[in-house]
Amino acid sequence: MRDFLYLAPLQSFTDHHFRNAFQQTLGDVDRFYAPYLKMSNDGSIKEGPKNDVLPKNNPFELVVPQLMACCADDFMVMANYLSDLGYQEVNWNLGCPYPMVAKRDLGSGILNKPEKVISILEEVIPKTNLSIGIKMRMGYEDTSDILTLLPALNQFPLTEVIVHARYGKQLYAGSCDHDRFEESIPLTNHKLIYNGDIVSVEEFRNLKQRFPSIHHWMIGRGAVANPFIFEMIQEDEYEMPDDWKEVFFQFLQLLLESHLKESSNEGNVLIKMKHFWEYFSSSFENPNKVYRLIKKADSISDYRNKIEQLLFEA
Ligand SMILES: Cc1cc2nc3c(=O)[nH]c(=O)nc-3n(C[C@H](O)[C@H](O)[C@H](O)COP(=O)(O)O)c2cc1C
Repeated sequence: MRDFLYLAPLQSFTDHHFRNAFQQTLGDVDRFYAPYLKMSNDGSIKEGPKNDVLPKNNPFELVVPQLMACCADDFMVMANYLSDLGYQEVNWNLGCPYPMVAKRDLGSGILNKPEKVISILEEVIPKTNLSIGIKMRMGYEDTSDILTLLPALNQFPLTEVIVHARYGKQLYAGSCDHDRFEESIPLTNHKLIYNGDIVSVEEFRNLKQRFPSIHHWMIGRGAVANPFIFEMIQEDEYEMPDDWKEVFFQFLQLLLESHLKESSNEGNVLIKMKHFWEYFSSSFENPNKVYRLIKKADSISDYRNKIEQLLFEA
């Protein structure tokens, strides 16, 4: 069986600008997950993520939207919105680690209350025509919650369970708990997707060897740092493709143009591009030097000159 590779949702990075630029220049991603929809205090859906999933912003297929909810009513408001837009599947976020979120039983904060997860699923599944998948961490305080939750999820017709092999309170620190992930594999009858710290072909190979029954993998930060990682994994190739600079340049141009088209504030777009380079720079031999150079860009045209200089004059 071949390996299926998914791009993880990363709020403020893998939005429609990124996903569309990616689909036009790079490849080998089987599914793109959009960052989560969430309710505002006034009972409406937050505008940014709501726009991100609009069909006009997503001309390419393969996009799975995500929502974050801690009660069936909120879940249904967002599910109905997505269903009206024509989506057939939604991913439920049970992974967000931030204390402000988790303390309201959102994201990973609900993982140590399996009865709440179950009752939400019992209520929403009969009410929505969307298929539901889950993206979760292995627990909130530690990685043990998954041992209770995974078997309890077997009663539901989920499309998949994506597991980021950390616990919530860890945020992004420390390492993934591969022993716990391995222990969890026989506990589910759903399609299980591994997520966490795949940053190189070598790391992917190690994980594949460790978990031979897993054929679905989700990559987040490693893919923003090196958008060629999917192609390199599929071709089992340690080196960047020969034409990576030309392809990356095209990708950067599409990303920039897409942001400029949507925002009249060039200063904000420049800040956004610089954020990306915190990740992009790690694909270069001297990441600090590269990031420093980009950070110095004082206008969009200066930014354009600097990326040309970086890719073609070095
Ligand atoms: C900046 C940032 C934003 C994220 N936004 C989301 C999100 O909207 N939904 C979600 O399920 N996970 C989100 N995540 C978690 C990632 O999808 C992924 O599970 C995590 O980064 C581990 O995978 P990785 O090591 O391949 O990056 C985010 C992570 C980061 C670093």
